[in-house]
Amino acid sequence: MNDPYHDETPSTTGPEHPDAPLHRRGIKSYVLRAGRMTAAQTRGLEEVWPRLGLTLADGRQDLDSLFGRQAPRVVEVGFGMGASLIEQAETHPDTDFIGIEVHAPGVGKLLDEADKRGLTNLRVYREDALAVLERCLPEASLDTLQLFFPDPWPKKKHHKRRIVQPAFVALVRTRLKLGGTLHMATDWKAYAEWMAEVMEAAPGFVNTATPDTAPYVPRPAFRPLTKFEARGEKLGHGVWDLIYRRVD
Ligand SMILES: C[S@@+](CC[C@H](N)C(=O)[O-])C[C@H]1O[C@@H](n2cnc3c(N)ncnc32)[C@H](O)[C@@H]1O
Repeated sequence: MNDPYHDETPSTTGPEHPDAPLHRRGIKSYVLRAGRMTAAQTRGLEEVWPRLGLTLADGRQDLDSLFGRQAPRVVEVGFGMGASLIEQAETHPDTDFIGIEVHAPGVGKLLDEADKRGLTNLRVYREDALAVLERCLPEASLDTLQLFFPDPWPKKKHHKRRIVQPAFVALVRTRLKLGGTLHMATDWKAYAEWMAEVMEAAPGFVNTATPDTAPYVPRPAFRPLTKFEARGEKLGHGVWDLIYRRVD
């Protein structure tokens, strides 16, 4: 089976052409693995899901109605086991968060934790993020979209499976408010360079880095340390954060 994280063939090509179709249907940026569910994860999926879970069938959301208030809105794509998202939702009660992840144990874990901590500012999709962005989230509705440690798909023949593509960032641009940000982080240098290359060519965004560190920014304090980052640090890998602002 393809493993998006452990295939270490060096990256040699650039991103897909910017004129590629908006939604590359049929191309999946993830591998669904059969995983054993813990009792807590099962409880999350069965008992908490009806309150905090959302599906494509729920259609286009009115986020003010969904959360019952007006607040800054953050979407996290591919939250994994959800540690970073839970921590942010708990420490920023005045911000609303929407997590999107296809991995059932991660979704179950996030829901279980959200319930145990009494969080009301969090909703979850167990769906492909591209479909959720296209079909469920309104235009110009998000303050931030965060993508932390996406699968790097290092083999050249798998580069088309990387989620960061011209079509993806064009879609993200439409969902961000003017002034909203796309925040990406990776511990894979070739993917960081790919992200910068895609973003430099993407209309409507400016890089927020200062010249001394551009195109990267130091890890902002509001991004919690994830399991993947901690693992990378132990192995002596670097981590690269990139934050782009929608200006147009
Ligand atoms: C390498 S993991 C990183 C998880 C987490 N962000 C972290 O830092 O620990 C990437 C995650 O993105 C999810 N993912 C990849 N493509 C996705 C997509 N199109 N929609 C939703 N989730 C996706 C995968 O299931 C996986 O859990």
